[in-house]
Amino acid sequence: MDLSLAKLTLFSPAKVNLFLSVLRKRKDGYHELASLFQTISLGDILTLSLSFKDHLTCSDSFLPANSSNLVWRAAERFRCKTRLDFSFEIHLQKNIPIQAGLGGGSSNAAATLLGLNHLLGGPASFQDLISWAAELGSDVPFFLTPGTAYVTGRGEVVKPLPVLPFSKENMWIVKPQQGLSTPEVYNALDLKTLSSHNPIEVLQKFLKGQPEFYNDLEDAAFSLYPELSFVKDTLLQAGYHPVLLSGSGSAFFCIGSQNPALILPTCFVYPIQFIRRV
Ligand code: C5P
Repeated sequence: MDLSLAKLTLFSPAKVNLFLSVLRKRKDGYHELASLFQTISLGDILTLSLSFKDHLTCSDSFLPANSSNLVWRAAERFRCKTRLDFSFEIHLQKNIPIQAGLGGGSSNAAATLLGLNHLLGGPASFQDLISWAAELGSDVPFFLTPGTAYVTGRGEVVKPLPVLPFSKENMWIVKPQQGLSTPEVYNALDLKTLSSHNPIEVLQKFLKGQPEFYNDLEDAAFSLYPELSFVKDTLLQAGYHPVLLSGSGSAFFCIGSQNPALILPTCFVYPIQFIRRV
């Protein structure tokens, strides 16, 4: 097959954090985390081919389709690290809301690395891809795993896990209109009010089918965007359990039989399932 003619279509999933502990602030300014990450069926579609000139298009006109986009940066990093001479043509069909804590940009960057490695005949090892991914963003390495992982460090240390053994029906993402900036949420974090959960114990419980959901970034996100407390309380009062901010927000992950759009008509609502790369 002439690789220069091949076109790849890749699904680039969002993620949720089923628990998220912030352990401490590090000397490099990042925060040490311990979190359970899971990919979900809400995702973007990336179409990728080799070309004569770098070209990126995006269905969402609010996102820059230039060298500041994580997709472009991932492709450039791949070219620089492999020293291969190629150009790319990429189209990004955006479905994952931005500024939501769902890892959309990181997932797109990981899909770009995986896709280029495939199109170019596999010049990079999995370990190469993990280390280049970590340079692009804290969450990017997770999206190279099959889809369930215990994540530590600043987010770049990933331990892949098997399918989680608890019932996963009637799951939803509820995204209020306003988004949140990840650095702003970390800046607003009061390190004195972090939870006292032991993440290793919580992980063991999840693996035994006894999930315990929490997110240490919730209070910081709620202080920046007080309407998030209203959204969470409304869902809890309507019987949803858990109702949990994903990452730094502003999207919530919740479980309940009724469509949340019926009680929160101004939010974007997505029915979801947990998915894994095959
Ligand atoms: O690594 P990434 O570029 O995704 O991180 C964005 C910002 O989020 C960082 O600049 C930092 O302010 C914050 N962050 C953090 N601790 C982490 C991950 C991200 O403080 N573990």
